[in-house]
Amino acid sequence: MLLRQSPDIRPSEITPQSDYLNRRQILAGMASALLAAGLPAEAALAGPLAVARSSQLAGDEKPTSLKDITHYNNFYEYGLDKDQPAQSAPGLLKLRPWTVKVSGECARPGIIDIDELIKASALEERVCRHRCVEAWSMVIPWLGVPLAQVLARFEPSSKAKFVAFETLLDPRQMPEQRSSLIYPWPYSEGLRIDEAMHPLAFLALGLYGEPLPAQNGAPIRLVVPWKYGFKGIKSIVGIRFVEKQPPTLWNALAPNEYGFYSNVNPTVDHPRWSQAKERRIGEFLRRPTLMFNGYGDQVAGLYSGMDLARDF
Ligand code: MTE
Repeated sequence: MLLRQSPDIRPSEITPQSDYLNRRQILAGMASALLAAGLPAEAALAGPLAVARSSQLAGDEKPTSLKDITHYNNFYEYGLDKDQPAQSAPGLLKLRPWTVKVSGECARPGIIDIDELIKASALEERVCRHRCVEAWSMVIPWLGVPLAQVLARFEPSSKAKFVAFETLLDPRQMPEQRSSLIYPWPYSEGLRIDEAMHPLAFLALGLYGEPLPAQNGAPIRLVVPWKYGFKGIKSIVGIRFVEKQPPTLWNALAPNEYGFYSNVNPTVDHPRWSQAKERRIGEFLRRPTLMFNGYGDQVAGLYSGMDLARDF
């Protein structure tokens, strides 16, 4: 984002949606069978996840291929090149045990254990557009739970005006964290509380019917489909309810390039490139970028009265 131009990748094969949907139904059935057989959650986790319901939030747009979603990544803890996260994250990131500490302005601070969350939740599949600030995009069939549903359990107080998120800090598992010359690790992000409680804000635990691959932010990452992709913080270990707008990694590094809100907005250019169009990975021609990434009918109300060119 800040440092290098991404190399072009070949338009690649897209899994036909009908094949993928059939496959997902089979996989979901297998996962339910495992759970019904009383096997521990880990057994089910090694394979597919059970899907309770599915929402198509990208119109009739085809999901990007699994290969592209899992091999064209931004995960700077593993390097700046798009293929580096797939090469090194799976071997280095230890996915269990994994907990998320929830703290700050709430009545019931506590810990989320990922396996308990998965067991206790009816997982939803959401096929959403994913628009990176670098002007490329994908359509991803995420699997997870609404963020609001998880946050509500901790009973945020009236002082909780924002929610801050933090990625794991462990240079043995995330080698680029050995140097903090450029990036103020750990990766951090934040949302206003009404954004966090919006039904479209989502915690992803899987994609394409299976647990999240390490390179996509396993075992739990944020998905905020109306914002640029960098708001979707990966491998979360901390969630804090706070009164003041929290510092976030990209905004701290370059506030004139990466605003706190970072809503997808084709009319506000990045200082170094246009945001009017995007390249859908797997396609050749660029397509127009949609305001709020096409989710304006659902989220525009969150920003009424704001000047989105100034508060970008
Ligand atoms: N989270 C962490 N911890 N580290 C990162 O480098 N990159 C962000 C976001 N979350 C990033 C992160 C950016 S710039 C984007 S576009 C998305 O993750 C990319 O998600 P994907 O690789 O699953 O497409």
